[in-house]
Amino acid sequence: MQYAVITGISRGLGEAVAKQFIEKGVNIIGVSRSENDQLNASAEDAGVRYSHVSCDLSDPEQLEEGLKAISSYVFEETTEYVYLINNAGVVEPIDTVGRLNPETVTKHMQVNVTAPILLVNHLLPIANKHHIPMGIINITSGAAEKTIHGWSTYSSSKAAINRFTETLALEQKEQEHLILAYSPGVMDTEMQEDIRSSSEEAFADVEKFRKLKEEGSLRSPEKVAEVLMDLISKPEQIENGKVYKLYDLVKD
Ligand SMILES: NC(=O)c1ccc[n+]([C@@H]2O[C@H](COP(=O)([O-])OP(=O)(O)OC[C@H]3O[C@@H](n4cnc5c(N)ncnc54)[C@H](OP(=O)(O)O)[C@@H]3O)[C@@H](O)[C@H]2O)c1
Repeated sequence: MQYAVITGISRGLGEAVAKQFIEKGVNIIGVSRSENDQLNASAEDAGVRYSHVSCDLSDPEQLEEGLKAISSYVFEETTEYVYLINNAGVVEPIDTVGRLNPETVTKHMQVNVTAPILLVNHLLPIANKHHIPMGIINITSGAAEKTIHGWSTYSSSKAAINRFTETLALEQKEQEHLILAYSPGVMDTEMQEDIRSSSEEAFADVEKFRKLKEEGSLRSPEKVAEVLMDLISKPEQIENGKVYKLYDLVKD
């Protein structure tokens, strides 16, 4: 049996990736604060297991409990392969340094950096002990490699995830795991709504992002998920530790 642990499953890219795993007959363990009844129903129709772990990843106690629940669902006698899609993410705080809300920065780092690292840290030793290969996909952003006014926290957290991915790949090179970061480009999700609602004082380029929406330049999360599924369906072509960018993988 194959399992996919997907964080941020309630909407956006996480939901789209979950739908495509369900179509492939992969059992799902979804992690988010809110549930997604439609996914549950699709899984039932497809005859795959769907379990939801309700967890606020910004809360260290909830994360610790969540990790135990996730591994109890994933590792069974029949488990042959485990995907981990570290997708949950937040963009806030968008503001200039000196005006950042300390609590929002702390929660941001918990969700975007600490939770993905601790998820891998928890699941990997169990997988290695039982010789179960994993496909670890960390969702990153082009912001990791760019300097953007107002985005110091987000750029830093995504740069950290890229370096974590590279380090993990180096450490696990004797193992069979697939380890990569995936940069999805701009997508039409709630995260973009958060970005567009910024003030120009907090984020100088906000107008550029409002235009992207007006011009219909945001990709659907379904298309972005399709490109990811296609990428991981050819594991022999994947270079572990690398950041794969949607823009390099699609022509249109
Ligand atoms: N949208 C873009 O243009 C874009 C571009 C580049 C990279 N990305 C990256 O793509 C990934 C997915 O983004 P998206 O656009 O799909 O975002 P989204 O629509 O805002 O969805 C975010 C997901 O993360 C979950 N989440 C947020 N805070 C959480 C918390 N404290 N605990 C648990 N789950 C939490 C949300 O679930 P609940 O609210 O139910 O908890 C939701 O399912 C993120 O890593 C993002 O950085 C997005």
